[in-house]
Amino acid sequence: MIPFSFQVTGYKNLQKALKVVVKTLPFPKPTLFSGTDSSLELCEAVAQMDNKNLLIVTDAMLVKIGLLDKITKKLDDLGIKYIIYDGVQPDPTYDQVEEGLAVLKKHNCDAVLAVGGGSSMDAAKVICARATNNKPIRKLAGMFKVFKAITPLYVIPTTAGTGSEVTVAAVVSDPVTHEKTPVMDPKIVPLMAALDGTLMTGLPAHITAATGMDALTHAVEAYISANAIPETDAYALAATKLIMQYLPTAVKDGGNLEARQNMALASYYAGLAFTKAGVGYVHAIAHNFGAFYHTPHGLANSIVLPHVLEYSKEAATDRLAKLAEASGLRTGREGNAKLAQKFIDHVRQLCKEFDIPPVLEALKPEDIPAITRNALKEAHFTYAVPKYMDQNTCENLISKMVV
Ligand SMILES: NC(=O)c1ccc[n+]([C@@H]2O[C@H](COP(=O)([O-])OP(=O)(O)OC[C@H]3O[C@@H](n4cnc5c(N)ncnc54)[C@H](O)[C@@H]3O)[C@@H](O)[C@H]2O)c1
Ligand SMILES: [Fe+2]
Repeated sequence: MIPFSFQVTGYKNLQKALKVVVKTLPFPKPTLFSGTDSSLELCEAVAQMDNKNLLIVTDAMLVKIGLLDKITKKLDDLGIKYIIYDGVQPDPTYDQVEEGLAVLKKHNCDAVLAVGGGSSMDAAKVICARATNNKPIRKLAGMFKVFKAITPLYVIPTTAGTGSEVTVAAVVSDPVTHEKTPVMDPKIVPLMAALDGTLMTGLPAHITAATGMDALTHAVEAYISANAIPETDAYALAATKLIMQYLPTAVKDGGNLEARQNMALASYYAGLAFTKAGVGYVHAIAHNFGAFYHTPHGLANSIVLPHVLEYSKEAATDRLAKLAEASGLRTGREGNAKLAQKFIDHVRQLCKEFDIPPVLEALKPEDIPAITRNALKEAHFTYAVPKYMDQNTCENLISKMVV
C-alpha cells in the first residue's frame, strides 16, 4: 500500500498538469443575453442561425406551470419549428438522454434549446454530444472524450445555481449503478445563453435557497482551489458578493426581479470560475449523496460545505478571509484567521436562515465507507483541493452529517 503522503504528491502533480492544460486550452463562452425577456432575444438570435427545427429539452413540471409559453409563442411568431422533449427529471439518467436523442433523430432536429435547471441543460448537452459522436454515454464521461463538435445548443436556465449554461460539464447518472458520471469537455459549452430573471420568479423558496447555495459552493470551491487563476478569482469573488447580497431576498421575496436577475448573473459568474478552477470535496461528497439518496444537488452541497471549510481552513485561511471581505463581513481590523472563521460561520447562519438542516436525514452510517471511497476517487483525480484527506478522515467528516 503506497503511503498517503506519496499518493498526495501524485494527485498534486496530476492537478498541476491539468492546470497547464486548462490555461492553454481555449474555453468557449456562450453569446450571452441578459435581463428581462432576454430569453426572447435569444430566440430572435436563433432565428438568424441556420437551425430551423429545434428540439426543446425541458422537464414536465415547467411545461405544466406554463414557463415555456412565452418562449414557444415567440418561436411560433418567428416561424421556427420545434418539438418538445419534457422527460428530464432531477439528476437525469442515461435513459432520459437516449429518449431525448430518439426524439431528435425522429424529427430530424438540427439544434437543441434547453429550458430548465441544471438537469435539463445537462441532459441537453449530452443529447447534443451523443447526436454527433457515435459513442455510448459511458464513453463520453470523463475529461475530453467528446471528439466531434456537438449539435448546436442554446440554453435558457430557469434556476440560478448550476452555471451549466457556461460550464464544460454535464452531470448524468448511470441508471443501474446510480453513479453520477460527469462529461467534461469544452465542446459541450452552449453557443448561446439567456439569463432571464422573469423565468425564475416562481421558483419555490426551498429550491431557490438550495440552488443559490450550489452557486455559492461553486464560487467558494473554485476560489480555494489550488488551480485558481486570476480570471477565476475575479469571477468567484464577484459571484460571492452578489450571492451574499441577493440570495436572502430571492428566497424571502421570490417575485423580486432585481434579486432574481442578480442571482442569475452570480450563478453564471460562479460557473465561469469553476469551469476552469474546478470544485472540490464538497461536490465530490454531495454528488454521492445525490447518487445514494437522490438528495437535491444544492441541498447536499449546503449540508457538506461548512464541514469541508472547517477541515480546509488552515490551508485556505487567506482565501477564506478574502471571501469574508467580499461578503461584507469585515467590521474592523480582524486578522485573516478570524475573518476565515467568520465566513464559515456566516455560511452556517445562511443555511439556518434558509431552513437547510446541518445533517442529512437519509444518510446511513453503513453507507459511509462506500460514499467516501467514491467521493475520494472523484476528488483526487479531478479537483485541486487545498488540503487532502484520506479515507479515515473523510469517513469521520461525513459521520458528522448523520442525524
Ligand atoms: N453542468 C454543471 O456544470 C453542473 C453544475 C452543478 C450541478 N449540476 C447538475 O445539475 C442538476 C441540478 O440542477 P438544478 O439544481 O438547477 O435543479 P433541476 O434542474 O433538477 O430542477 C429542480 C426542480 O426545480 C424545478 N424548477 C426549475 N426551474 C423552475 C422555475 N423557474 N420555476 C419553478 N420550478 C422550477 C424543476 O422542475 C425541478 O423539479 C444536478 O443533476 C447536478 O448534478 C450540473
Ligand atoms: Fe454544483
